[in-house]
Amino acid sequence: MKTLRFGFIGAGFMGKAHAQAIRALPICFPDLEVDLQLQAVAASSAATAKVAARRFGFAEVEEDWRTLIAREDIDVVSILTPNHLHHEMALAAAAAGKHILLEKPMAMTVAQCEEMEAAAQKAGVRTMLCFNYRRTPAVIHARAVIDQGWLGRPRAFRGRYLQDWLADPDAPVNWRLAGSSAGSGTLGDIGSHVVDFAHYLLGDIDRVSAMLRTWVAERPSDGGGRQAVDVDDEVMCMLEFANGAIGSIEATRFAPGRKNDLGFEINFENGSLAFDYERMNELKVCDFRSDEPDFKTIHLGPRHPYGAHFWPIPALGMGYHEVKMIEIHDFARAVAFGEAVHPDFADGVRNQKVLAAIQASAGHGAWHAA
Ligand SMILES: NC(=O)c1ccc[n+]([C@@H]2O[C@H](COP(=O)([O-])OP(=O)(O)OC[C@H]3O[C@@H](n4cnc5c(N)ncnc54)[C@H](O)[C@@H]3O)[C@@H](O)[C@H]2O)c1
Repeated sequence: MKTLRFGFIGAGFMGKAHAQAIRALPICFPDLEVDLQLQAVAASSAATAKVAARRFGFAEVEEDWRTLIAREDIDVVSILTPNHLHHEMALAAAAAGKHILLEKPMAMTVAQCEEMEAAAQKAGVRTMLCFNYRRTPAVIHARAVIDQGWLGRPRAFRGRYLQDWLADPDAPVNWRLAGSSAGSGTLGDIGSHVVDFAHYLLGDIDRVSAMLRTWVAERPSDGGGRQAVDVDDEVMCMLEFANGAIGSIEATRFAPGRKNDLGFEINFENGSLAFDYERMNELKVCDFRSDEPDFKTIHLGPRHPYGAHFWPIPALGMGYHEVKMIEIHDFARAVAFGEAVHPDFADGVRNQKVLAAIQASAGHGAWHAA
């Protein structure tokens, strides 16, 4: 049995998700043959890290993320912090020879991402970027149906990620609403996941034409008073893929009534695929050559990707937690046994190039190469 000792930097929403997944992995993946250990955690303060260590089950706490990375007894560094910290932390982890599991978006700029990718290559460490939604079994199954080939040429991709948690103009600012800590707004936070779907399912994007809007220019801040919002609230974008397909991406945190409406519909010569994360245990497939050329619902279950590791019948229901388990399972196997894994830092560079092209296109109001 191999052992992988994890050091987390960050113990918020993603700290919880990653720790839960690691703790549950041996229950659902008894054949993993890798012992995953929660070795040490660092956060923005020692007090936060101590609370997280107790709650998540870490053996030790580090007051500073640099000393966590320097520890000999850490094999994998999980970077689960606000976006502006990813670059510096990933470079330090690579220099220390640690494998890196990094939350998205990869960093603030394409140049930073390229530097991180080069550093990881040079150090010979494994990397994974946490675009976890591509590991939803229904999405993996969609990719498998595309790979069967019968759908024919892809024509149109319509991707969306719609939420409403900022529709209230009095919702307070947080790090996601400042360019200095987030890099971009809705675009990097949730639009990047849709870009990842597009890459995973249809391949490279050649060019984009986009609009960005900021709907609420200032919000209440924690310390009283109001703080300017300098990131985008809403993204509308057209795409052209290298394979000739065309598409669109919409992302917003201002769609009243939409909680986590992440999805896509892809039209091909001979049929269509449709996925809606709010019904994440289903994939809709249309075979337009059949006698009934309508969408049919496939209920994901034990016969589908990773399904046998979870529940004994279809439609019992998987959630975000299971998707995070699949992600960390795949990364652990990559590190322990040298298996291929995606998306890695090279995929992260590709993703960031599309985000940058969307910003550039919105800035000058014309198509921009991705
Ligand atoms: N893959 C997904 O589905 C998904 C979902 C949410 C967030 N994310 C990404 O995960 C990352 C973290 O987001 P979150 O929602 O967990 O944020 P969060 O605000 O809940 O947690 C951030 C954590 O980082 C720690 N931190 C901040 N500054 C630090 C520093 N200088 N040194 C050490 N620790 C520091 C904080 O203490 C906190 O524990 C972001 O990049 C975000 O985009 C991904």
